[in-house]
Amino acid sequence: MNHLGTVPLETRRLTLRRLTFDDCRTMFDHWAGDPQVTRYLRWNTHRDWTVTAEYLYEVEKCYADPTFYNWGICLQDGTLIGTIGVVRAERAAAEGWQTLPEPLHHTEIWEPGYALGRTWWGHGYATEALKAVLEFWFTRVGGPWLSICHAVENPASGRVIQKNGFLYDHDAVYHKYDGTPVPCRAYYKINAIKEM
Ligand SMILES: CC(C)(COP(=O)(O)OP(=O)(O)OC[C@H]1O[C@@H](n2cnc3c(N)ncnc32)[C@H](O)[C@@H]1OP(=O)(O)O)[C@@H](O)C(=O)NCCC(=O)NCCS
Repeated sequence: MNHLGTVPLETRRLTLRRLTFDDCRTMFDHWAGDPQVTRYLRWNTHRDWTVTAEYLYEVEKCYADPTFYNWGICLQDGTLIGTIGVVRAERAAAEGWQTLPEPLHHTEIWEPGYALGRTWWGHGYATEALKAVLEFWFTRVGGPWLSICHAVENPASGRVIQKNGFLYDHDAVYHKYDGTPVPCRAYYKINAIKEM
């Protein structure tokens, strides 16, 4: 893979850019402080904006790493509405694949994740942002495939995944950072360009 780190991406309606420390109040107000947004995320709702500030302080340092992918999602007027990233998944995610071609079982597992402020749900923004990240991943980074999962109780994320052409593979359980188990559906998408 040709890791490029978090480089800017554009879609028809969105700009994907690096987050900065200065985004802390907006990130907290728009999504990180909202329990309805963080309900199915691995991390817990931020208690106040200083938690978001600490998080972004670490994120800014991580951008030096070319394997670190974490974009802020912005509207054309610059409003920061959410986030999307790709992370290397835990080893447990390597188990249970049913229809994923066998050679891919032995490769690294990379997984996109996203969250938007509630105000901006239902406009197709998550679908559009994920599409841009997939194109970047498959054409520029050259990753062979991506895994993704959503909580069984979070069908909106399931739709975002399905609309981006992921194939359902099996039911599984992921763990929040505090250890809470969450039943989920696991999907995969293979790099069609590499297949040709
Ligand atoms: C999941 C999330 C990112 C979706 O963002 P979004 O911009 O609203 O998504 P889109 O508008 O692109 O697509 C949402 C789809 O889900 C559908 N949907 C919404 N609520 C639904 C529900 N309760 N049941 C079934 N489908 C639902 C919408 O109708 C739409 O599908 P359609 O285009 O076929 O009509 C957003 O709800 C969010 O940030 N949730 C909290 C964080 C989160 O759960 N992240 C994912 C972790 S796996």
